[in-house]
Amino acid sequence: MKLEVIEAIKNRQSVYPKFFNGESVPLGAVEELIEIANTAPTHRLTQPWRFAVFSGDARQRLAKFLSDEYKRLIPPEKYSELKHKKRYDNVVKSSHIIAIIMQRDIEKHVPEWEEIAAVSCAVQNLWIAASAMGYGGYWSTPLEMVGRPAILKLDEGQRCLGLFYLGNHELGILPKVRGDYRDKVKFFTV
Ligand SMILES: Cc1cc2nc3c(=O)[nH]c(=O)nc-3n(C[C@H](O)[C@H](O)[C@H](O)COP(=O)(O)O)c2cc1C
Repeated sequence: MKLEVIEAIKNRQSVYPKFFNGESVPLGAVEELIEIANTAPTHRLTQPWRFAVFSGDARQRLAKFLSDEYKRLIPPEKYSELKHKKRYDNVVKSSHIIAIIMQRDIEKHVPEWEEIAAVSCAVQNLWIAASAMGYGGYWSTPLEMVGRPAILKLDEGQRCLGLFYLGNHELGILPKVRGDYRDKVKFFTV
């Protein structure tokens, strides 16, 4: 069991919508992923993660919103037709798109960075579980979704931290691109 958990963590990976095969992820599985996300650690139990899930026809609405907003917000000299098209295609190729939302505790019991960290833990839970269940996905942070995009009709104190694209795929496990962990740690022993 312990080894299975470690394997699941190591095998979590980003699978991009261009690799999705068009098959839907069952709603029950999406609910299970959210339930797993909901077990993340959270300082003072503020549980700041919220999710908004787009599927079916709502995807067209989201795809149009993203591509229109990209065009509106990007400085003209940085505009890319390819990125504009990708905004649309990524959404319609996905089975479900999960908006990742942080709910700021109105009484500010903990610093905001701790709430962002807790939401990130929730996303990591979801991401590991999705990979382990054989689904593909990745966390994307397009400029038009980070903040308070109108399409989400966010409540007070909520902020969107990006989208998790979810779908089915047939890719195997891809090699990890990482530097040596030993370059990222210091051990103090005395
Ligand atoms: C907070 C966060 C934001 C991310 N935003 C993007 C993004 O906007 N576009 C993108 O292609 N990948 C994004 N990624 C995914 C990373 O590119 C990906 O995790 C990285 O390449 C490592 O690959 P792996 O997830 O397969 O290990 C994001 C990841 C995190 C944690």
